[in-house]
Amino acid sequence: MKIDELRSVCVVGAGLMGRQIALNTAHHGYAVRLWDASPAQMASARGWLDEYVASRISKGRWTKDEADAAGSRLVFAADLVEAAREADLAIEAVVEDLEVKRAVFADLDRVCPPRAVLATNSSTFVSSLVANATKRPAQVANLHYFNPAMVMEVVEVVQGPHTSPETVALLLEFARRTGKRPILLQKEIEGFIANRLLWALSREACFLLDGGYATFEEIDLAAEKALGHPMGPFRLIDLTGIDLAYLIRTARHRTTGRDEDRPPRCIEERYRAGRYGRKTGRGFYTYE
Ligand SMILES: NC(=O)c1ccc[n+]([C@@H]2O[C@H](COP(=O)([O-])OP(=O)(O)OC[C@H]3O[C@@H](n4cnc5c(N)ncnc54)[C@H](O)[C@@H]3O)[C@@H](O)[C@H]2O)c1
Repeated sequence: MKIDELRSVCVVGAGLMGRQIALNTAHHGYAVRLWDASPAQMASARGWLDEYVASRISKGRWTKDEADAAGSRLVFAADLVEAAREADLAIEAVVEDLEVKRAVFADLDRVCPPRAVLATNSSTFVSSLVANATKRPAQVANLHYFNPAMVMEVVEVVQGPHTSPETVALLLEFARRTGKRPILLQKEIEGFIANRLLWALSREACFLLDGGYATFEEIDLAAEKALGHPMGPFRLIDLTGIDLAYLIRTARHRTTGRDEDRPPRCIEERYRAGRYGRKTGRGFYTYE
């Protein structure tokens, strides 16, 4: 398929990421059908859409016509068949559970037209793990957005050994036409680039803290003022959640068996104490 033939996009999963990916795509002129298995999430995504669009208009970022046009191009589908049957591109943004994702890919493969490209927004799983749930592995790849997907400038496109050069070229151009700068990974690796860089920094930060080399405040200060990061690693973990940090590391350690992937002491202790970060008022820092 040529990029100019790509008109209709299906997004599966209307959570934090899926709803933003859907609106960003509609805002850039594509017909989008969004579907989620949970009716509550569909309702929540509709509410979010109305609020988000209203705030864009009131801040003067979008004109009313622009907002109406984006809204009219984004359809909330009643089921997966309605969402996917005319899609040229399907973007999967369901929960980070491999078995669930594989089932979604098998369904998309059955329902989408044969020309359609199927992409996963997974933060960690490479598309090889889902491509073999379909009969079109050459048309499967990673298209990884960052949160918030309406705002963040880049997406990662990961080429698997099964992915055709045409599929990669299509996704790179789709990213550009939807306002993103694509970053291409020519080979698969878990976590891709940005998250791996983040993992490396936070692993080292925890090593320094657990080894008693410096306090977490001093380590954040070094990252923020010496390296120019907008937020130090501990402030960032507090924001994204110590529970998530612990669970991701536990899952990675289970997969790799490597000692360095084990949750570090400073995270494990806070996780066990229920100090999850901002959301519980206490993590590394204390919040009002
Ligand atoms: N949260 C982030 O910062 C972030 C960033 C980049 C990528 N991601 C990835 O995006 C994906 C979604 O993450 P999220 O943060 O939006 O999660 P979320 O929990 O907000 O949304 C996941 C949605 O998937 C739906 N779902 C579950 N099973 C389904 C199924 N079988 N069919 C259809 N819908 C189903 C759920 O109802 C839920 O609405 C994950 O793979 C995650 O790794 C997340």
